[in-house]
Amino acid sequence: MTMIDVSRLPKAELHVHLEGSLEPEMLLELAARNGVDIPFHSEEEARAACHFTDLQSFLNLYYAGLRVLRTPRDFAEVTHAYLTRAHADRVRHAEIYFSPQGHLRRGIAFADMMEGVIEGMTAARADMGISSGLILGLQRQYAEDEGFEVLDLAWPYRQHVLALGLGGPEVGNPPEKFTRVFAEARRRGWHTVAHAGEEGDAGYVRQAMDLLHVDRIDHGVRCAEDPALVRTIAERGITLTVCPLSNVCLRVFPDIAAHNLGTLLRAGVKVTINSDDPPYFGGYIDDNFRACQTGIGLSDADIITVARNGFTGSFLPAEEVAVHL
Ligand code: ADE
Ligand code: ZN
Repeated sequence: MTMIDVSRLPKAELHVHLEGSLEPEMLLELAARNGVDIPFHSEEEARAACHFTDLQSFLNLYYAGLRVLRTPRDFAEVTHAYLTRAHADRVRHAEIYFSPQGHLRRGIAFADMMEGVIEGMTAARADMGISSGLILGLQRQYAEDEGFEVLDLAWPYRQHVLALGLGGPEVGNPPEKFTRVFAEARRRGWHTVAHAGEEGDAGYVRQAMDLLHVDRIDHGVRCAEDPALVRTIAERGITLTVCPLSNVCLRVFPDIAAHNLGTLLRAGVKVTINSDDPPYFGGYIDDNFRACQTGIGLSDADIITVARNGFTGSFLPAEEVAVHL
């Protein structure tokens, strides 16, 4: 049986963390340039550190790594490098999670990070024609009040911000903690998304929908524990930004064959395939598509549906979506 060559399909990536796209080579280079101590000293050591037992074990390494980002140039370089690599996988549009709180707490000025990221996105569009926008990710371990400060800081840059998002350690930090700040983001006309049902159970997914009124759910795979919820997600056409290799690395599923992406598709859920934190989880978007093709057995028709879902589930205006379909 022939299988479609996923590398030839145009794609949109809807779930990737800028800070999680730092390749070991750049991480080491920025650490040296900025005099920042990191927990490894070679690319081999960095790759060897990427063995995780759960979400928190990953976040510990991810938070240590992102400290190498200090200047506008650093933020511009990592943004341009991710978009260049994504473009090689025929990503035409990327919606990039960017989490300012970890940087603000280290004393990085909001203007420095935003101007660098915007420079990287603008240059990538000019060089390669790839479009992109930001998802401003709140970190759920921090208080909701901080989120309002982030909204205010980001307001002057709103042209580049597509949505408010939510990431970080899920269990113990349920969506309900952020009800007011998400309402404020929606009042300001922003889209909203949230990580839910990755480490947390189906109740977290339900809260993200009922209390935060999100347009998309990041991961969301544990919705499967609640069949009525799966039906609601399918009926409402809510997009799940699923990250299969991430889910295997963080032990959400024991292996790729056990992943429920195919089951969710068959239940009528609008599923997309994304990379989350590609160097940490061993693959970019095409690697994730190929893992689903060979490990889950997605058909050519499924693969094409999922790739199209990336565009229709994006926050691009309808007339731009149409260009990609
Ligand atoms: N931040 C970066 N990657 C994440 C993930 N997979 N879950 C929650 N927060 C994250
Ligand atoms: Zn994520």
